[in-house]
Formats: sequence, C-alpha cells, structure tokens
Amino acid sequence: MSRMITTVVAALAFWPALASAVAVAPLSPRANTKAGLSYSDVSVSFDVSAGAKESMPLNRQLISVSIEFCYSVDFLGAAKSPNLFSKQLLQNVMDISGTLPIIRLGGNTQDKAAYCENCPESMNSTYAPGSTEAIDISFSKGLFTAMNENMPSKQEYIFGLNLGRNDVEVPKAELRAALKYLDQSKVVAYELGNEPDHFTMASYGFRSKDTWNMAAYVQQTLDWLPQLSSGKSFQYGSIAASPAVASDFTLVQALQFGVSKLKQVTIFSSHAYQADVCTPAHGELVKIEDYVNHMKTVQYYSAYIGEIAAAKSLGKIYHMGETSSAACHGKDGVSNTMGGLLWTIDYSFYMATLGLDRIFFHNGRGDYFYSFWEPIGGSASSPQPHINPQYYSLLFHASAISGLNSPRIHRVAHLDTHDLAHYAIYSGNQLKKMVILNTQLYNTTDTRPAKHVDLLSIFGKKLTVKRLTAPNTIAKTGVTWGNQAVDGKTGKFVGKETWESVNNGVVDVFASEAVIIEKN
Ligand SMILES: *[C@@H]1O[C@H](CO)[C@@H](O)[C@H](O)[C@H]1NC(C)=O
Ligand SMILES: *[C@@H]1O[C@H](CO)[C@@H](O)[C@H](O)[C@H]1NC(C)=O
Repeated sequence: MSRMITTVVAALAFWPALASAVAVAPLSPRANTKAGLSYSDVSVSFDVSAGAKESMPLNRQLISVSIEFCYSVDFLGAAKSPNLFSKQLLQNVMDISGTLPIIRLGGNTQDKAAYCENCPESMNSTYAPGSTEAIDISFSKGLFTAMNENMPSKQEYIFGLNLGRNDVEVPKAELRAALKYLDQSKVVAYELGNEPDHFTMASYGFRSKDTWNMAAYVQQTLDWLPQLSSGKSFQYGSIAASPAVASDFTLVQALQFGVSKLKQVTIFSSHAYQADVCTPAHGELVKIEDYVNHMKTVQYYSAYIGEIAAAKSLGKIYHMGETSSAACHGKDGVSNTMGGLLWTIDYSFYMATLGLDRIFFHNGRGDYFYSFWEPIGGSASSPQPHINPQYYSLLFHASAISGLNSPRIHRVAHLDTHDLAHYAIYSGNQLKKMVILNTQLYNTTDTRPAKHVDLLSIFGKKLTVKRLTAPNTIAKTGVTWGNQAVDGKTGKFVGKETWESVNNGVVDVFASEAVIIEKN
C-alpha cells in the first residue's frame, strides 16, 4: 500500500505555540479553553529502555476472528462459492501487515453440530423461530473444501468439536473427516467443546448440575483427548466464567486437576464478556461510557492475569478464545460504534501487555451487533452485508505491527488516565511507534475536545501520524483509518492512505480518536 504524506499545517497553525515543554515530568492533563477551543496538554515522556525490558510480544495475529459455528458457511461461503466480501476484508489485513488473522469456527453451536458424510450441503443449520443460534447443525466435507479454498490462501483456523452431546463418537467423526478433507497445514488447533462451565444451564442441558464441575470436565478431557488427538494440537478451556467471580471453573483450577498431563493441549483459552444483553434489564445496563473508559478496561481485564500465568506456567499459548462487548450478540448503538471500536483496540492491546497471545472477537449474522462484519445481510436487523466500526481494529493492529520484525508492546501506565491510553510499540528493544487512544466521549456538535500530545522527548520534532477517526463516539458509520474507508459492498479500500506529517513533535488527538505515531 502506498503512503501519502500530507502536511497538516492548517490544524497546527490554530493552536497556540506550546511552551517548549520538552520532557517535563508527566502531569495530569491541563485543561485549557481558548477562543472556543477545548484542549489539554499531555507530555509523553518515559524511560524508553526500561519500557523495552517490560515489554511483551505483540502477536502478528493479536486480533483474530471467532465465528459462531452455525454461521461458518455464511462467512466463508459454501464449497466452490466463496464469500468474496469476507475474503476481501481478510485480504485487507494481509495487505497491511503480511499476516492474516486466525479464524476460529466455534461457539455455543459447535456443541450442536455433527458431521454428515453424505449430506448435500456444506452446512445445514436449523433455527428455532426467533432465535439466531442454531439448535441443530450438520456439516459435510463441503465445509472443509470451503475452508481450504474460499479465503486467502494462507488462512488458518481453529476448529470446534462437539463435547456437549456427551458422545465421543460425535467429535471422533468430526475429527476423522477434518483429517481427511481439511488441509492440516491450515489448522492451528482443534477445540473440544465451548464454555463447559455453561453446560448445566437449563438452556443447554448438556450435563447435570449434580455431577458436572471443573474436575469432571478435566477428567472427561483426559479420557477423550487421547482418543481424538491423532497428534493434533488442541485449544483447552474456553471457560466463560470471569476469574474475578468465585467459580469452580478457572484455568488455575484446571492445573490442579492434572491438565498438564494433556500433551496435545498447546493453547489455553478464556472467554470474556464484560456485560450482556441477554435480558432487557441487563441490556439497559450496557452503556458506551463503560467501554470508553480506559482505566475501567484495565481494571476489569486485569482479572485475567492469573489465568495467563497458569497458561504460561505450562509453557502454553494463551488466547482470549471468544470475546466481545456484550454477550448475546452485542448492543446496537454501543457495540457497533466508534466507541466500541476504540474499546476493541484498547482491550486487545492491554491484554497483549499482560502476556496474552491472541484475542478472538466473536461474529455472527443478523442481530450480532458486535460482529466485525455482516457477511450476507438478508435479516431484518441486518438487511445488507456491511462492516461495523470494530472491523477497523484489525487494520489498526496491522498498521501497528507493519514493518516490524519482532513487535513488542508496553503500556506506559503512569501516563494513562480514564480517557487516554499510551502503548509503546517496539521492535526488539527499539522503540518504533506510539499508539495513543483518546477515549473521551464526544456526542455533541460543540467543538471537539483535543489532547495536545507532546512526543518531543521520545521522538523529536518530525513525526508521521496515521489517524483513526469518525464523526463522534456513537457513530456507526463514517470511520476512516489514515483517510481510507472500507467500502461496504466490495470490502475494498476507498481513498488514499494518508500519514500526516508533524514538525513540532506535538500531535493533536481529538476526543474519540486513536493514532499511530512514528518518528519521521
Ligand atoms: C437440514 O436439516 C434439517 C433438520 O435436521 C432436515 O430436516 C433437512 O432435511 C436438512 N436439509 C438438507 C438439505 O439436508
Ligand atoms: C448522545 O446525544 C443524544 C442527543 O443529545 C442523546 O439523546 C444521547 O443519549 C447521547 N448518547 C450518549 C451515549 O451520550
């Protein structure tokens, strides 16, 4: 992708000359109001080499994609009939960073699925009236053909098998077919069952409350995985319960029940939804303010530090294997907004600083307001294929790692406030980029507040900036990334990629914007 450098002189000329506050000790932002402008000054100053030492790997597939199992074919297309919109949206990521996100096919409905050798359709999902999660699914080898052929050629997958039905013959048949028809070089891991801690809920009814707990789950996987593995890697856990809530189901507990004996497990996975819209009362509580508060995000997800440590203590990869803003498919006006997008980036980058490897945002069709994209349209709540703002998180991350050999990330925690997040991006021990998120809510027609972010002490005066913006925090459309948008019909970029150039070391980041800044 070609880079266009634009000098944003006009905007800069507006601001009063900044006191040449080079490397002043970080203060809390100073509020200013002058000539109807509202801004505050912040100075990005920190110990760059100490940051390198504290930094964590920034995975090239950090932000990845989970697709509800019953919608696999809607997103990928059926055998010999690729969904070109999905393919283009994935290719866009590849074009920026050279790497594709992983696709995980799984979720509640992986535990409703079974393989059918002679079924005519790639996938046949049956829905109860009014429900957007299938109650019964069969899939044939056509699904594997679609996985092999429909997406960009290097596409990788995590593939969900059925544990819910409590019959080992079901996942055995699924895996046997996968080994026969699915290109195994595309498989990162298989996954046996989704959210086993929910198996006793009335709406699932997969297991009895009297006998099902973490110990029983670990025991069943100790029995089954050796029968299934055929030397393949498995992703383990997929636990929905937050480790902050007292629960039998945590990865820390799994360790105590002997999960280290499962040599085929290469990845530990948690699921997280910080809120839900599963009942109207719960839906009422879901507010944009809780997503665009950086310190709230830090506080909520710091609960996973112990789970990450459990995985790392066994030398495993750690995934947030399925997640999004609000369970039961997200909330219109919150999940699918610019604010939802900023939260997606902040949450992902913060988790990377804790040592997480990858995070899989969940997707489905119809009322799935948290989806990165709607692949087909055709439902009342989602009549046309389209992207949602959250899709841009894939592009933002791709730009953050673009050009770096061994990307690493460090949160400059002492600079952070509820509405300002600072991530330093290194390659090896070299500071290469800064990611700044201004999550301040902006939902008026008044002057848009800005932070004057002073990077002189770390990068000097000459900078280039790629800007993620939208009309306001609750905008569902109109997002641009470096002045480019993604066309809702073709999935292709519209406009020329633009990096702004700055000559005084100070970058204006407006309320509800995010930027990547590099030394020029
Ligand atoms: C799809 O599944 C439903 C429910 O199991 C079944 O009645 C129907 O015949 C199947 N359709 C095809 C084309 O296999
Ligand atoms: C945004 O502004 C509109 C109009 O004032 C208001 O009705 C709405 O509640 C606001 N939304 C948020 C999330 O602040």
